[in-house]
Amino acid sequence: MPQQIKRLISVFAILIVLFLIMRQVLKPDSFGELGHYRSKAIQENKMRELHYAGSVNCLKCHEAIRTDKAQGSHAKLKCEVCHGPGLKHALYAEKFKDGQLPDSLKMYKPSERKECALCHQINAARIKMVFDTINNSMIKQINAMEHNYADADTKVEYKCIECHNPHQP
Ligand code: HEC
Ligand code: HEC
Ligand code: HEC
Ligand code: HEC
Repeated sequence: MPQQIKRLISVFAILIVLFLIMRQVLKPDSFGELGHYRSKAIQENKMRELHYAGSVNCLKCHEAIRTDKAQGSHAKLKCEVCHGPGLKHALYAEKFKDGQLPDSLKMYKPSERKECALCHQINAARIKMVFDTINNSMIKQINAMEHNYADADTKVEYKCIECHNPHQP
């Protein structure tokens, strides 16, 4: 056998042994118990703190808003898309009627133009409404820097929600 092939074989042998040692040292212990997966990851994910309640859990106390929302084109948007995570609020808000809600249970209310523009800003990469066959699944676009931007005289910026009801736009 030519000498360079022998050398090549020994280099490969060293690399394979190194790989086997590294694999033994670095492999997490629970890897492989449930197939190609670190099975302790399931436990770890279960232990994570929850933040979102899910829209169904808002309805117990805000049924009227759901009814409103169901009649408009925001019907399919989930509450927490706009209001942020609300698990704590949903669990503990009940006692605090009429503006008594403590800060720690307050929900976020998106009032800035840019927060509506997040979904509605014109975007060349989006498919045009002409092709929308699946019942309003695509979003009507405006240019947030032009669409009713500011009062012509005072130059004060309008908020989207001054004209559009966010629950029934
Ligand atoms: C498109 C974003 C959006 C979605 C989706 C949304 N909201 Fe709102 N919501 C707002 C905004 C913006 C305000 C603040 C309105 C204002 O200040 O005039 C608000 C206000 C509220 C208020 C305060 C009372 C009121 O009527 O102004 C409650 C309660 C509320 N939302 C509950 C909900 C619930 C429950 C859902 C789901 C069924 C939901 N919202 C879905 C944007 C949204
Ligand atoms: C157990 C009852 C309950 C549940 C469930 C509940 N809320 Fe509320 N929510 C309240 C009460 C009470 C207030 C305060 C009303 C007031 O101040 O008059 C409130 C106020 C709000 C406000 C207005 C806050 C503000 O600062 O004006 C928003 C927005 C809101 N809730 C969204 C939600 C969303 C989203 C969910 C679901 C994740 C939800 N709520 C679930 C009882 C509840
Ligand atoms: C998470 C994405 C999302 C956000 C945030 C959002 N919208 Fe929408 N909006 C939609 C979808 C989806 C529709 C339904 C498809 C359509 O008609 O464009 C819609 C529809 C609309 C329409 C069209 C109403 C009609 O019947 O022609 C208006 C107006 C509107 N939204 C205003 C707002 C305003 C104002 C805000 C901010 C408070 C906002 N949207 C925030 C997704 C969003
Ligand atoms: C001064 C009032 C006013 C303000 C402020 C305003 N809008 Fe509108 N918007 C309207 C009116 C009126 C229409 C319907 C006529 C039209 O298409 O211009 C409309 C239409 C729309 C439509 C539907 C467009 C379509 O193709 O049918 C969307 C989406 C929308 N607005 C989103 C927004 C968003 C997002 C903001 C904030 C960045 C906003 N609007 C601010 C009055 C307003």
